[in-house]
Amino acid sequence: MSVNYAAGLSPYEHKGKCGQAELFDSCDELEKKVTLLAELIRSSKCLVVHTGAGVSTSAGIPDFRGPNGVWTLEERGVAPKFDTTFHEAQPTFTHMALKSLEQAGYLKFLITQNVDGLHMRSGFPADRLAELHGNVFVEQCPTCQTKYYRTTTVPTVGLKLTGNACEAKKGTNARVCRGKLRDVTLDWEDSLSERDLQLADFYSRAADLSLCLGTSLQIVPAGNFPLYCRKNGGKLVTVSLQKTKQHSKTDLVINAKVDEVMRRLLELLNIESLKAELHLSPVLHSVHGPATLPLAKEPIQKRSKRKLVDNEEGIIEMKPPKLEAATTKLEAATTKLEVDSTKLEV
Ligand SMILES: NC(=O)c1ccc[n+]([C@@H]2O[C@H](COP(=O)([O-])OP(=O)(O)OC[C@H]3O[C@@H](n4cnc5c(N)ncnc54)[C@H](O)[C@@H]3O)[C@@H](O)[C@H]2O)c1
Ligand SMILES: [Zn+2]
Repeated sequence: MSVNYAAGLSPYEHKGKCGQAELFDSCDELEKKVTLLAELIRSSKCLVVHTGAGVSTSAGIPDFRGPNGVWTLEERGVAPKFDTTFHEAQPTFTHMALKSLEQAGYLKFLITQNVDGLHMRSGFPADRLAELHGNVFVEQCPTCQTKYYRTTTVPTVGLKLTGNACEAKKGTNARVCRGKLRDVTLDWEDSLSERDLQLADFYSRAADLSLCLGTSLQIVPAGNFPLYCRKNGGKLVTVSLQKTKQHSKTDLVINAKVDEVMRRLLELLNIESLKAELHLSPVLHSVHGPATLPLAKEPIQKRSKRKLVDNEEGIIEMKPPKLEAATTKLEAATTKLEVDSTKLEV
């Protein structure tokens, strides 16, 4: 699959603000801001990071709304150019820095809108990660929920049949499931995965520090999650080259490249950066143990009011999930990850 996965999405008119001017903090400003961010991280008890397309642009995967974003160019009638494929793209400094921050005990949970699978492929612990809009390397069985992490991208987007059958063996007589697998990458009208949505909602509320990296925050619910921590007196920090949708509610706005910020941040926190490596199946070794969810009284869809599109504000909304049980099970071909504990620890 080309990195232009947008080409596989259905037509959609309202794509938000594209091609806004890029902003760069001066060296002095940047140093002060990253020093403040390091202090905030040191004193935080629950740091949650939210990432978007901007953490993968240095891997050669274009964003959507930056000056050379797929939709910015589309608005100008220019065809986007692609230097890599999802298959070839390697984790960036920022992907590895986030893994380092998790291993150092600072980062409690990572929420991404990206579908490039690079957080998972960098070896970031799968049970501390929510991939809100899917992952182009994954297909899933709707019958038994088994997830298959492939080494190459699956052929479809939009939760379509991929042509493969589930090989999971279930029960004592080890009957093969044979469910028809579907991709997990969302199209506009598709529902978010209940497991990822529940975890993202829970950790966004538990956070005392939300750090957004390389996202314009124009898509909801993803773009609203970082705000939740402010209700508990938490702080919101954004690192982006463009003004984000939540600019007026952001406590610290850093206008710089994410890799540059993360490099300095790790230095200030005295954390060694890990070398880039590619993991082809999910890694489950979080220093915090598996993520835990309280048993929700009802699924999130019932608790929050949502609009599909608000044209006036240019908000783009991914549909909430279909009603499902509050606890969900995610199984990889070789690993099993359960998110059904009643513990409230973060
Ligand atoms: N890599 C991917 O998986 C990928 C790529 C393109 C789009 N998307 C999809 O786009 C949608 C979400 O939009 P979004 O907010 O993530 O993307 P977006 O294009 O709306 O915003 C990305 C933002 O990151 C900033 N940015 C780009 N490179 C940066 C860098 N090196 N340092 C700092 N900032 C940088 C841009 O200025 C831009 O504001 C999601 O649905 C997501 O699936 C994903
Ligand atoms: Zn199955």
